[in-house]
Amino acid sequence: MELRIERVKTPGKRPGDSELRFGQIFSDHMFNMDYTPESGWHNARIEPYGPIVMDPATMVLHYGQAIFEGLKAYRAGNGKIQLFRPERNMARFNRSARFVCIPEVDETFILNAIKKLVAIDKDWVPSAPETSLYIRPSIVAMDSYLGVRPSRTYRLFVILSPVAAYYREGFNPVKIWVTNKYVRTVRGGLGEAKTAANYAASLYGAEVAKQAGYTQVLWLDAIEHRYIEEVGTMNIFFVIDGQLVTPPLGGSILAGITRDSVLELARHWDIPASERPITINEVMTAQKNGSLQEIFGSGTAAVISPVSYLAWQDEVITVGNGGVGPMAHRFYETITDIQYGRAEDPFGWVVPVEVE
Ligand code: COI
Repeated sequence: MELRIERVKTPGKRPGDSELRFGQIFSDHMFNMDYTPESGWHNARIEPYGPIVMDPATMVLHYGQAIFEGLKAYRAGNGKIQLFRPERNMARFNRSARFVCIPEVDETFILNAIKKLVAIDKDWVPSAPETSLYIRPSIVAMDSYLGVRPSRTYRLFVILSPVAAYYREGFNPVKIWVTNKYVRTVRGGLGEAKTAANYAASLYGAEVAKQAGYTQVLWLDAIEHRYIEEVGTMNIFFVIDGQLVTPPLGGSILAGITRDSVLELARHWDIPASERPITINEVMTAQKNGSLQEIFGSGTAAVISPVSYLAWQDEVITVGNGGVGPMAHRFYETITDIQYGRAEDPFGWVVPVEVE
């Protein structure tokens, strides 16, 4: 398929790296592509960033038939730009699409379009430590229709946002609130798909957590309210007695790419790691008998995010000494060193973006 390119007449001004937050400003260009049953995915184009005009009856506005991905372009020390395991994002994009009846895309074509878009907006890739260009591909249902059924037409778009750390805390520990009152998703639902609906379902619980002084919610399973699932913006890891434990991908948890990278690194380093069901009671017991050493989250936006405090019912525990644990530190350093080209990449995770 052809990829048309229309460049902006006057490039926008990128703020200084020190002014960056997460997801607030966007680069000069975006990628767009449309789907109709007659033409399939077509009309691929990179054009100036701008609004998508929608009829008020557009289905995504009513029934939330929408999926997205999140990946980053990193500026390596030598000025080069690189992506981290982007083929995984493309594969997950299509998996998410199947969950909500969205037609699949050509993964290689979209990845090449993303590389081209990043190359065109290369000056938007920041270079300060912990900054990157966040890449957000999305697909939304575009039919104007109020009946409940899958849309027949779709828009795929990719936007770019220069970002700093996702949490205000940066790599400093975050405070997590565990709830058995609210649930994010349930097995058989959309939990393992990256759909807008999962994030909508997390908002109320997250607001309650925030009002109580916590950064995020740790969700439990929706049936027994005992098994730990994920944080919503990241997967979760525990270090108990020197063993790394993370909940298995049982259908209600997002298959995080950073999660997978942590597990692969653990195998590489001979750290005992298991993907197994873990209850909140096991974590609280491990804390009481002194075997809970660390908790940290993993995600594209969050990278590795140590957890210092965990609130469960009427107890609040301080994990380790409330600081950054050695395991979290090692994963963070290694993953970011690979992402930013400061270290060898023995796993073949990094994909360069060719700039003109
Ligand atoms: C990511 O880590 O890229 C996410 O999608 C999490 C959140 C910012 C929605």
